[in-house]
Amino acid sequence: MMDNSSDTSLQPISYGTQDGRPCKRVADSYTESVRIVTHPDVNGENRLFGGRLMEWIDETAGIAARRHCGGSVTTACVDTLQFKHPAKLNDIVVIEACVTHVGHSSLEIQVISYVEDPSSGERAIINTAYLTEVHVNSEGVPQEVQFGLALTNEKERLAWEAAEKRIGIRQTRKEFGF
Ligand SMILES: CC(C)(COP(=O)(O)OP(=O)(O)OC[C@H]1O[C@@H](n2cnc3c(N)ncnc32)[C@H](O)[C@@H]1OP(=O)(O)O)[C@@H](O)C(=O)NCCC(=O)NCCS
Repeated sequence: MMDNSSDTSLQPISYGTQDGRPCKRVADSYTESVRIVTHPDVNGENRLFGGRLMEWIDETAGIAARRHCGGSVTTACVDTLQFKHPAKLNDIVVIEACVTHVGHSSLEIQVISYVEDPSSGERAIINTAYLTEVHVNSEGVPQEVQFGLALTNEKERLAWEAAEKRIGIRQTRKEFGF
């Protein structure tokens, strides 16, 4: 039998721990959805319904959260959702989601949506949003997320710090009942 114990290429890569949990990287759960805006998605002015884009955002964020925690999630909160520009009939809409923070049972997901120019490939932002997804069991009871988040660059570290500020704002809102 071959002895591979000294072959470092076969060792699992460690990205450190967070509160004793092994970490996954932001890149491990990065999710991109691509949609085409069709007739059922638009209003009388041929502009994409806000609610349809919110559905796509929620779905993409949920996939990123599931990829990180490896189980079921439910959306607890959607905030700072900003419609910056409209999308129109036949536009290609790209929705990018990535984990910015992992708490005990919750994850914050940043979602940025774009319209992509099919000829140049250039993307223009149409929406930004932050969703809080909670890892739950089959009864819908919150569970600890088994993986922390490894911050592999300055951008991810700054995103984590900004997420902690937003979590503080959410807690304040909760205390005041709004
Ligand atoms: C989300 C839900 C599971 C939270 O349950 P809960 O009993 O309030 O749970 P807890 O108070 O223990 O909070 C669990 C985590 O969620 C976070 N959380 C709960 N409500 C939140 C809110 N409104 N905003 C942000 N975070 C929230 C808590 O901060 C906590 O995070 P942490 O474990 O990382 O510290 C529950 O409120 C629920 O089922 N809501 C309905 C979800 C739903 O139907 N979504 C739409 C369909 S996907």
